[in-house]
Amino acid sequence: MAFYEDAQGRKFNAQMAAVELINVIRPVTAIATFITFAVLALFEHPRARDWVQNGDKQHIEWFTREVRRFYPFGPFLGAKVRKSFTWNGYHFDEGLLVLLDMYGTNRDPAIWGDPDVFRPERFRDWDGSPYNFIPQGGADPAKGHRCPGEGITQEIVEASLDFLVKTIEYDVPAQDLSVPLNKIPTLPESGFIIQHVKKKTPAG
Ligand code: HEM
Repeated sequence: MAFYEDAQGRKFNAQMAAVELINVIRPVTAIATFITFAVLALFEHPRARDWVQNGDKQHIEWFTREVRRFYPFGPFLGAKVRKSFTWNGYHFDEGLLVLLDMYGTNRDPAIWGDPDVFRPERFRDWDGSPYNFIPQGGADPAKGHRCPGEGITQEIVEASLDFLVKTIEYDVPAQDLSVPLNKIPTLPESGFIIQHVKKKTPAG
């Protein structure tokens, strides 16, 4: 941010540099929410935990995608119609507020079959469509507003998950792990508290 120059060789002023720096720090910090859900998933779904612990890099990727599909972050996105149009028999008038149901799409039984089951293997058969798995917005990020940080998010959660299952072990004390759906973004009520953290011994 300090050294960036635009096409005319102009640098950011201090305020613009600060805004842009915060635009990176804020979303990177937000990834902690998905990491919390990843560690919650390891605890709530022991079969999936064993599967990822004994698996390879591909299993870590699918488990991370399933965390981002299954656990709630943004419920929906809003947009205003700029020019009236009709799509699939629905008319959208200019100025209309439209909501994209991210949570509902990620849990749509017509797309996922058993959406309320945490099952990372489902991503083995995922078609890669930019319209059905939309925890960070839909469509092509190069042409619309879908989150351009999605790849970074996926990789940071993967690295954290790898560390959690392969490098350390810990105890999970009794706590309130219920996730309220009336907070945005939400988290387990207690956060996710771990105790007696130690490095894994080679034997396991
Ligand atoms: C927990 C992680 C994250 C979540 C849940 C998230 C979610 C979102 C969502 C829902 C949007 C709006 C999409 C739309 O309007 O269609 C968005 C936009 C954006 N995100 Fe993220 N994001 C995350 C991480 C990141 C990271 C790590 C970066 C970059 C370092 C980033 C940079 C951006 C930017 C620049 C936009 C605006 C794109 C535009 O308007 O064209 N995000 N994000």
